Amino acid sequence: MNIAIAGVGYVGLTSAACLAQLGNEVVGFDINRETIASLRSGVIRFSEPGLPELVADNVRAGRLTFTADPKEAMHAADMAFVCVGTPSDAAGRVDLTQVESTVATLAASAKRSFTTVLKSTVPVGSTERVAEIMAGCLAAGVRSSIVANPEFLREGSAIQDFFESHRIVIGSWDPAAAETVAGLYTALRCPILLTDPESAQMIKYASNAFLATKISFINEISRIADAVGANVQVVAEGMGLDGRIGPQFLEAGLGYGGSCFPKDVLALSKMAEDRGHPSALLSAVMDINRSRRRIAIEQLRTILGGTLQDREVCVLGLAFKAHTDDVREAPALSIISALCNAGAAVRAYDPIAMSSASRVAPPHARLRYCDDAYAASRGSNVIFIATDWPQFRALDWQRVRRGMNGHALVDGRGLLSAEEMGAVGFDYVGLTG
Ligand code: UDX
Repeated sequence: MNIAIAGVGYVGLTSAACLAQLGNEVVGFDINRETIASLRSGVIRFSEPGLPELVADNVRAGRLTFTADPKEAMHAADMAFVCVGTPSDAAGRVDLTQVESTVATLAASAKRSFTTVLKSTVPVGSTERVAEIMAGCLAAGVRSSIVANPEFLREGSAIQDFFESHRIVIGSWDPAAAETVAGLYTALRCPILLTDPESAQMIKYASNAFLATKISFINEISRIADAVGANVQVVAEGMGLDGRIGPQFLEAGLGYGGSCFPKDVLALSKMAEDRGHPSALLSAVMDINRSRRRIAIEQLRTILGGTLQDREVCVLGLAFKAHTDDVREAPALSIISALCNAGAAVRAYDPIAMSSASRVAPPHARLRYCDDAYAASRGSNVIFIATDWPQFRALDWQRVRRGMNGHALVDGRGLLSAEEMGAVGFDYVGLTG
């Protein structure tokens, strides 16, 4: 198949490289000329394990090219994937501007009929609007059916998630178009669910909302467990042994961040509200998630003697989770900002997310990024773990402890062992309260 992929960010570039690896001829298209120039010179501007190699292999094999010219992208395309961003607007609803302009551009550039594949996470019911725009921009004699094909890729393991997909979801009113898109994925040997576009889009929102709910649920249990003297990690382990519950997404801590869960739970909640069915459950999930950051700040304040003024705090981890340099909605950033505003001096370190953090977080005189965890912790009164990077486990904690001006360690991710940290001389605590 000849495939055009519009939008070569996380989702688009990963999909492009993986679909090329499956043997398709793929053209990655983006209106950002700098992004295209950078990809053509072999540079990917975000970190995703294995992606640079997969892109390079497929470029070398001649199956993957990049262009900023939509006509070139659509020249031979049997399918056009829409993978552009769908950010939240000021009210938390999905801003479809990029999707709408991309669809118009693709339609206006097509000289032959093609299938439009909507990968971007769009509100349930957007397919009709997309079809309208499409119809208004296609040249006479050119046709395009719309297929919703949501993605379920996690940052940090996106390639593995693609090739070991749990399921492919395809929603369309055109059975032939749906079958054509399904054909792309048969080599993955996973269940392929064919449905209508609304159900396909709802599956994406419901899946993300369910996982976010699981995280907020265990965070709520964590608060109750603290109050009654139980250990939430053991509780989660015991719950996860039940096959109906499963062990995943039961890690209590700072809560969820990233580009998907916060945006998608909010968008689903707005969709429900707009149709007269406000969701108390989704509101609680979001409230609990926000509360985890407040709890962390209050706990640090208490440990530091009731004030953050002129206290030295070492924050380890900036990314919203390990194995990515993405800091969108990262708990670390809002916590650092609150600490600095309350008068603390923060020294922060992340294995790969420091440049993305310094690009998005407003510079603050009290915030310093350090070259490693030892430099960040030197002289600090407390260490705060904000991201679950496995390499933090392997630090020489004796050395960290010796360099500090204090011995408190707050583990916002349940990453370290309380016993081991206690043996090194730390006053170790998880998030409590
Ligand atoms: C998520 C979905 O998993 C993916 O299917 C979807 O397509 C995009 O959104 P991603 O945002 O990359 O992927 O991260 P994920 O690994 O799901 O974690 C999301 C957030 O939840 C992170 O901030 C993580 O730290 C947090 N989390 C996860 C917890 O707090 N506890 C857990 O037990 C699991």
